[in-house]
Amino acid sequence: MNDIQSQIISRGQTTLADISKTNTLSDLEQIRVSVLGKKGTLSEALKTLGTVPAEERPKIGALANEWKAKIEGALETKKSELEAKEIEASLGKTKIDVSLPGRRPHMGALHPITQTIKKVSEVLGRIGFDVTVGPEAETDFLNFEAANIPKDHPARDMQDTFFLGPGVVLRSHTTAVQMRAMRGKTWPIRILCPGAVYRADNDATHSPMFHQIEGLWVDKKVSMSDLKGVLGFFAKELFGADAKIRLRPSYFAFVEPGAEVDVSCAICAGRNPKCSVCKGTGWLEILGAGMVHPRLFEYAGYKSDEISGFAFGMGVERIAMLLHDIPDLRLMFQGDQRFLKQLR
Ligand code: PHE
Repeated sequence: MNDIQSQIISRGQTTLADISKTNTLSDLEQIRVSVLGKKGTLSEALKTLGTVPAEERPKIGALANEWKAKIEGALETKKSELEAKEIEASLGKTKIDVSLPGRRPHMGALHPITQTIKKVSEVLGRIGFDVTVGPEAETDFLNFEAANIPKDHPARDMQDTFFLGPGVVLRSHTTAVQMRAMRGKTWPIRILCPGAVYRADNDATHSPMFHQIEGLWVDKKVSMSDLKGVLGFFAKELFGADAKIRLRPSYFAFVEPGAEVDVSCAICAGRNPKCSVCKGTGWLEILGAGMVHPRLFEYAGYKSDEISGFAFGMGVERIAMLLHDIPDLRLMFQGDQRFLKQLR
């Protein structure tokens, strides 16, 4: 064995010993550079290769490569060992409890009024009603006059109106949208008009702004029994298969005859005289309805002897309150997360 060979072996052994004693990554790097670097001991030793006889060079080369691989392997093993220790140590310092559940982002949800409008539109959409919308600032003419409520008509008192200026009101019902729809196109018409409406009223069951959905079906030979069929279907889809409806005669200027429509109480079915929802009557009023007054057809430019139609209108908040058993209308408008979260 010549000088270079024994040098390689002894340097290699010391290097392996040094590596195993090292405690930091920077010391380890230093060892790597001092042995394997351009000017490292192993490289330097190989530079003297020219001084040995040619036939011995391959043997020495192979020995050098063998030790290089050994040292590299030892460096790699030590490096992962030290890195793992470093991570362990920093975890101990920063004290992050990785087992704690994270903070969830707050997810928004549709407001119960929007949910109810969507639900009603979906149910009636299945039997051919299309959603139509109109402006909230409406002409006195379309809100009242064309709905057969002329100036000084007592029916105006039923809807305490906000006036925006001469001849312009905040619409007091979505009936105005029906007028717009009829004036814009010819029959047959089968539409739903959801939207905000305004009346000067404010207590636990009335809000100055609330929402209505009105329905209108105009065609040849549309009858009161079609109205009952549609509303019966609607009640069952919304309140359950056992829901029944009943019509009571009532007055709305824009329909003749007119009716108030009740749905059977899903809570007690009329069996609990102390029921807080129906007050023991077994019935809940959910909407107004009737056969479209011929005068509305005239305003729309239709021939009232060729066609007929029915209309109905419901308060969205009232429907939502019944569906979710909500005791106070004002909860709908306060934006209280504790309330809203329950109705997702
Ligand atoms: N527009 C009426 C209201 O606001 C509801 C209604 C609509 C009644 C259609 C009958 C027919 O009270």
